[in-house]
Amino acid sequence: MQWGITRALPHTLPERRDALNEIRARHDATCPLCCGAGNYTHTVLGEGNPEAELVFVGEAPGDKEDATGKPFQGDSGAKLDEMIKAMGFSREQVFITNVLKIRPQLNQTPTKEQIEQCAGFLAEQLVVIRPKVIVPMGGPAAKQLLRKDEGISLLRGKWGVWVAPSGCQVMPIPVMPTFHPAYLLRNYTLETRALMWSDMKLVMTKLSAK
Ligand code: URA
Repeated sequence: MQWGITRALPHTLPERRDALNEIRARHDATCPLCCGAGNYTHTVLGEGNPEAELVFVGEAPGDKEDATGKPFQGDSGAKLDEMIKAMGFSREQVFITNVLKIRPQLNQTPTKEQIEQCAGFLAEQLVVIRPKVIVPMGGPAAKQLLRKDEGISLLRGKWGVWVAPSGCQVMPIPVMPTFHPAYLLRNYTLETRALMWSDMKLVMTKLSAK
């Protein structure tokens, strides 16, 4: 972890953009997980507004993300875009990233060990952006950000906080876990849609508060 510890926190848009680019370059050169893996085409660091008030965190890139280097393409991406739009934002206004920055072998759910190896880069991205709210989508992202072991059905819909690594001069950031868009698509019922939307309404209320 460098930003916020050995390097001053970036504040302006160009400073934050440069910091995110630097994290990307350092990740691609040094990540203990991703540099040792040979099964991917592109790293997928994330994209969006370096000053975003709202950051969405998914699990890991899939095939389409691996092919393009961009997070949340394909059906999950379309569902996420729909949700972002319904919340009154565009993809360019928020920031979208993942816990893992490369496609896991056979698209498997990342293990705790894999997450630990790569997740420092996610923490640095969050330190640089310092959004008002973080929305982890699905169990792996929610567990990693909240440091909890419960599944997403228990974690979703309740506020938690993301605490920056010790030594960072960054206040805890509110976290609202919700379902992963892929889960929603697999379980497309009135109930799951209503639950996810109620999570996003809590986020919108928090964002509109002073
Ligand atoms: N699922 C994720 O968790 N992230 C992506 O970028 C795409 C699908």
